Amino acid sequence: MTRDILILGATGFTGQLIARYLVNHPQRASSPFNVTLGGRSRDKLNRVAKSLGLSTDAGSVVVVDLSDYSTVERAVVRAKVVINAVGPYWKFGDFVVRACARHGVHYVDITPEPHFIADIVAKYDFMAFKTNALVIPACGFDSIPPDIAVFVANRYVKAVLGSDTSIEDSTTAYDVEGGFSGGLIHSIMSFVEDPGKTLIKSAADYGLRQPHGPPSRLPRIVYKLPYDVSTSWYGTIWPQRVINRQTVHHSWSLFERSRDAHPADAYGDKFRYDECLRSPGPISALFVGFSICLFVVAILISPIRWVLKRILPQSGIGPASDKGHFEVVNITKAGPLTVKTTVRGEGEFAYYATARMTSEAALAILLQFNELPYRKTGGGGVLTPAAALGDVLIRRLEDFAGVTISSESIKTGETKKTR
Ligand SMILES: NC(=O)c1ccc[n+]([C@@H]2O[C@H](COP(=O)([O-])OP(=O)(O)OC[C@H]3O[C@@H](n4cnc5c(N)ncnc54)[C@H](OP(=O)(O)O)[C@@H]3O)[C@@H](O)[C@H]2O)c1
Repeated sequence: MTRDILILGATGFTGQLIARYLVNHPQRASSPFNVTLGGRSRDKLNRVAKSLGLSTDAGSVVVVDLSDYSTVERAVVRAKVVINAVGPYWKFGDFVVRACARHGVHYVDITPEPHFIADIVAKYDFMAFKTNALVIPACGFDSIPPDIAVFVANRYVKAVLGSDTSIEDSTTAYDVEGGFSGGLIHSIMSFVEDPGKTLIKSAADYGLRQPHGPPSRLPRIVYKLPYDVSTSWYGTIWPQRVINRQTVHHSWSLFERSRDAHPADAYGDKFRYDECLRSPGPISALFVGFSICLFVVAILISPIRWVLKRILPQSGIGPASDKGHFEVVNITKAGPLTVKTTVRGEGEFAYYATARMTSEAALAILLQFNELPYRKTGGGGVLTPAAALGDVLIRRLEDFAGVTISSESIKTGETKKTR
């Protein structure tokens, strides 16, 4: 039996949210698709399956240990789309991507680890291109909102100023409410335990693939952004800039490769990307910024890391409810234009919103494959949400995941909505 969607890590905190969202998805009534739960413990899998009203037979549950390539390959080869929710990805992700790329199986994940993506681009991009597998990492809150915000801002600019215009300074500011899971904390801690070379390489601008665009500005402790003609916003360091900037740069490189055929998609040679966490004023920005720096320094010290690992939430634990919101605002300049693009949603941002976004990315591939724009960038390969899924994903997020996406010009003070 074919597995329409196989969720790896379905017993984890985020994996269970993804499974619940997919099992209850409204499109299952009109376009029935099956969901298979994958994990390393049969008992846990059976418990999750029962809680979702699924059977516990081989059609709904499969035991997979991601450290054993043969079990991974056996599970993956029968799937159409794999969602990988097992982190840290640099430790556990390689075999899954290898099996998907080898067998032409589509893959999405929620990695926040650019060094993992750099690694799979180097190892499996060509293989996935040959088998036409879509391998799309960072399909969670990291990095769908910023990736599609820049994509939509670029289109707005091109519609107003013409397809040859380059977008210029582009900054995404985050206002979020949610929580942390043990899995994420474990991933953050393990970040600094990864072999340094890969980490340093992927921290560089355009660290994932060629061609390389213009360098980013250095991150700052205090940011000031134009919000409208009379107001400014403040912001500070946003830790997820590490992954999001790489994803947006990755989209830059993919769109640049197809610039001759699709000039309007290319962001252009003046593009500079940055991110910040919104803050009420410059003093609070300074305070929060320094606290974040302090935390980063602390986790670099192994005894402190050892203590934090024991006192912070453990694997499988995360925010108890879907209470929260997110507002991701991108301000992009291009010549005389300043464009504000807003990606907004209700609900906890880091896990519940991630589950909705990742699931919609997988469903875009499963249910709307023939409408996807991925061919514009050359075919299968290790791609980004914006380059591979584009408008199909945007419509799905709006139609099913409670996300609103809009762009407007804020140059003149007279706003003009396009979406
Ligand atoms: N990008 C984003 O926006 C975003 C958002 C949320 C989470 N994440 C990332 O998602 C990942 C998962 O987070 P989480 O909080 O859901 O973690 P979690 O609750 O600890 O779940 C981890 C899952 O991985 C499974 N697993 C671990 N080692 C395995 C192996 N060798 N073989 C098969 N399965 C294995 C675990 O199985 P057991 O149940 O048997 O232990 C569990 O199902 C983390 O890397 C986190 O950084 C990213």
